[in-house]
Amino acid sequence: MADVDVVLSIEGAPPGYSDRASLVTQRIESGDCLVSESDGRVSGFATILRRLFFGRDFLELLTVDAEYRRQGIASALLRAFIHGATTSQLFISTNSSNVPMLNLLRKEQWLFSGELVGIDEGDPELVFYRSSVSKGRSSSGF
Ligand SMILES: CC(C)(COP(=O)(O)OP(=O)(O)OC[C@H]1O[C@@H](n2cnc3c(N)ncnc32)[C@H](O)[C@@H]1OP(=O)(O)O)[C@@H](O)C(=O)NCCC(=O)NCCS
Repeated sequence: MADVDVVLSIEGAPPGYSDRASLVTQRIESGDCLVSESDGRVSGFATILRRLFFGRDFLELLTVDAEYRRQGIASALLRAFIHGATTSQLFISTNSSNVPMLNLLRKEQWLFSGELVGIDEGDPELVFYRSSVSKGRSSSGF
């Protein structure tokens, strides 16, 4: 819980943005928030929805502090998400305008699943997936 404020500052939620604060608080409390540490402080985070995307784990938020980008931190957080998976398939999504995230997913070998329109007007949400089982861990049939 000590990380809530720094996670929210990295996420860029405006002060008093209570919806995002309560989401992050819930994920930390349930153990579904990963953080990276650099120079002794939190440099990035990811929140996870367990088995809530058609029964699959879904990576909900992923943000790295601007000061620490292009150092492999998001890649490491994605791999930690895979390592801790509770389902054999994992999903993630991003806006079609988010070139850094699209490049990251391509580089980390996530596969295109489909496109959702109607969430952000004029900027479709692109959904990606990958298997978690190649690393040999057992997880649910999903
Ligand atoms: C997208 C984001 C999470 C990437 O974090 P990161 O720690 O910088 O990513 P990595 O260092 O692991 O980058 C891995 C690869 O992703 C791609 N990539 C990352 N940032 C990029 C950028 N600004 N432009 C182009 N490609 C980029 C590159 O292929 C990179 O490999 P390379 O550095 O060897 O070229 C980060 O830019 C961020 O927090 N953005 C704002 C929040 C956001 O958009 N989150 C995703 C919403 S779903």
